[in-house]
Amino acid sequence: MRISVFGCGYLGAVHAAAMASLGHEVVGIDPDAAKIALLSSGRTPFFEPGLPELLTAGLARGRLRFTTDPSEAAAADVHFVGVGTPQRKDGTGADLTYVDQAIADLLPYLRHGALVVGKSTVPVGTAARLAKIVGAVGARLAWNPEFLREGYAVKDTIEPDRLVYGLDAATAEQDAALLDEVYASAIAHDTPRIVTDYATSELVKVAANSFLATKISFINAMAEIAEVVGGDVTQLADALGHDTRIGRRFLNAGVGFGGGCLPKDIRAFAARAEELGRGDSVAFLKQVDEINLRRRQHMVDRVVDSFGGIVHGRRVAVLGLAFKPFSDDVRDSPALDIAVRLNGLGAEVMSHDPEAIPNSRRLHPQLTYTEDLDEALEGAEAVVLVTEWNVYRGLDPVATAAKVARPVIFDGRNVLDPPAWRAAGWTCTGMGR
Ligand code: UDX
Repeated sequence: MRISVFGCGYLGAVHAAAMASLGHEVVGIDPDAAKIALLSSGRTPFFEPGLPELLTAGLARGRLRFTTDPSEAAAADVHFVGVGTPQRKDGTGADLTYVDQAIADLLPYLRHGALVVGKSTVPVGTAARLAKIVGAVGARLAWNPEFLREGYAVKDTIEPDRLVYGLDAATAEQDAALLDEVYASAIAHDTPRIVTDYATSELVKVAANSFLATKISFINAMAEIAEVVGGDVTQLADALGHDTRIGRRFLNAGVGFGGGCLPKDIRAFAARAEELGRGDSVAFLKQVDEINLRRRQHMVDRVVDSFGGIVHGRRVAVLGLAFKPFSDDVRDSPALDIAVRLNGLGAEVMSHDPEAIPNSRRLHPQLTYTEDLDEALEGAEAVVLVTEWNVYRGLDPVATAAKVARPVIFDGRNVLDPPAWRAAGWTCTGMGR
């Protein structure tokens, strides 16, 4: 099929490359010329395992191209909109500027009978509004949310765990058939597919992210209690997780969630619910957010306490900046935030991350960064592990003790084996254990 993808950020670039790898003829469109130049040469503006290979293959086969020119979408049968919907600068709702702009850019080239497919995470009600706009030129609209996780974006796009089609009831059959053609490979693998209305499809995405965020904040709330009573939240999570109705995934307590989705999606959902007069229904999301943000200060407090209340002038190695491993994304990252807070208190922070230093430096040039893990550890009076990269998980307690000035480690992701670290002379403090 001939496909256009509006927006070549995280979602759009991955979607374009993945669609090309499935045999479609794809053009990715984005107003950012630098981004288009980079993608056209097979490189990515962000770190995503497997994506450069997919891009290179698509470009080489001539199935994939990138442009700033929206008129190149004219030949496509299906137009995906995968632009960002960040948090508004003046509030907690979603900023729909890029979605509206993409539709406006596409509109002059939209053929009668073409299908526009929204993938961006939007406030419920957006699809119905956009359907009227594209309907005016005889095109149709579908909403087809994505559930990709950074670090696994390629796999999540090519082999999604479910497909959700939000369709106009009047044309649902033909629109579903067209989307089935786009996703023929996933359909052939019996991927569950839910065909529904616009509102439900928009809700699925924010509901899923709200549920995941709630699960994380739930276990972090348990961590707060476990700390007071001398329990171990990791064992608690293991025990809970054996109940298949609960499940063990997303029950890892620590410094909390961050990234470009969970934090802004729960805030946007709460803001939209307020607008709909149902703020009470999701009032708990405010607490989910608050529990999450508390984790960062809690970590900072524990580090400061370890120095008797004054961290000024003390050497602290912060291991991790990305909001999670296998990503260079530092948007709303607990790790980067903790480094910034410690630095603000006058600590001599040395930050390390395998991938996220350039993005961190752009946001916080005042911090000191090193790409050399040994340099970060050398002379440290406290080590703070805040992103669970494998290089940190694999640190040898004995060898690491020889590098630091004071063997004190805080495990913000509960990934170290405390007895092994204590046996090597460390004071090892987890989160909620
Ligand atoms: C998330 C959703 O998982 C995905 O389906 C959606 O499409 C986009 O948002 P992503 O932002 O890539 O994906 O990250 P995810 O893997 O969900 O992790 C989010 C954050 O939660 C990370 O900061 C991670 O460290 C944290 N987390 C995750 C925990 O603190 N504990 C856990 O048990 C799991």
